[in-house]
Amino acid sequence: MSRPRVVVTRKMPKAVEDRLRAADLDVTFNEDDTPYTRDRLIAALQDADGLLLAVSDVIDGPLLDAGGKRRAQIVANFGVGVNHIDLDAAKARGVIVTNTPGVLTDATADLALALILAATRRMSEMEAVLRRGEWGGFSPTADLGMSLQGKTLGVIGMGRIGQATARRAVLGFGMTAIHFNRSAVGPFDFPAEARPSIEDVMAEADVITLHTPGGGANSGLVSAARIALMKPTAYLVNTARGDVIDEPALIAALKSGRIAGAGLDVFAKEPHVPAEFLTIPSVTLLPHIGSATLETRTAMGMLAAENLIAHFSGQPLPSQVV
Ligand code: 8YV
Repeated sequence: MSRPRVVVTRKMPKAVEDRLRAADLDVTFNEDDTPYTRDRLIAALQDADGLLLAVSDVIDGPLLDAGGKRRAQIVANFGVGVNHIDLDAAKARGVIVTNTPGVLTDATADLALALILAATRRMSEMEAVLRRGEWGGFSPTADLGMSLQGKTLGVIGMGRIGQATARRAVLGFGMTAIHFNRSAVGPFDFPAEARPSIEDVMAEADVITLHTPGGGANSGLVSAARIALMKPTAYLVNTARGDVIDEPALIAALKSGRIAGAGLDVFAKEPHVPAEFLTIPSVTLLPHIGSATLETRTAMGMLAAENLIAHFSGQPLPSQVV
């Protein structure tokens, strides 16, 4: 019997590619890491039994049906967020979707804290001043940011990454945590109080950090009306998905100084970043690097690989979404 064919749409850390090479699979890698076009994805779905893919690969019903001769029965996502995959369409067609929960929690929470610190200590703005040669020397009253100690962190989406971010902020930086989550969560191994609505969190917090999934009902969750509830001294940080924030509304709030600042690792239409963000000193902008450590990306790839290997050897899947 021929070995199951697997297409890996992006270049993976070496250990992951080695693991896949050692498995009883016929694997096609992406040596130069050129993102797959829609047509190339369709061809891969028709040619392979399974795909290992990433956030750059948009999977929807028409794509799964294209040409009427799909062979793939499983797509293993490299990442926890699956908003780029139409889960209903996959489920309706019997296509299994897996993801990589857990292994990127710490790296993403670390980056959320990095953005919280960058925003509240004005790091991007201050570094730009220095790089432009405009630093005039020390001043007791210039360049002041906001201390985290004693301030309130508002977590929207208190899942694994939201909890890990709150834990760091509370235990490491002396913040108080409040949160909103769709379903009841807790207790936690650190103090954090639930609030009954997103509005409560938006209005009460000094720093708001987003950890919900993207897409669906969460698109535009942080709307103009909700941003308008923020304190003028408050900051907004997003390491979740860009579409969760109404970007034009955030741009307006930052430009007018209605809020103090923001830290963004994700954008609604990646890799496009709205040009207006680039002109605003009070926002720190990162290119979706929440999970971007060698250790974490390796663990993510390994978990995606284990899902495929389990599927093709008839074992239970470590992390199936649908
Ligand atoms: C990944 C992420 O890098 O896991 C997620 O949901 O956002 C990132 O950590 C990305 O999804 C890669 O596919």
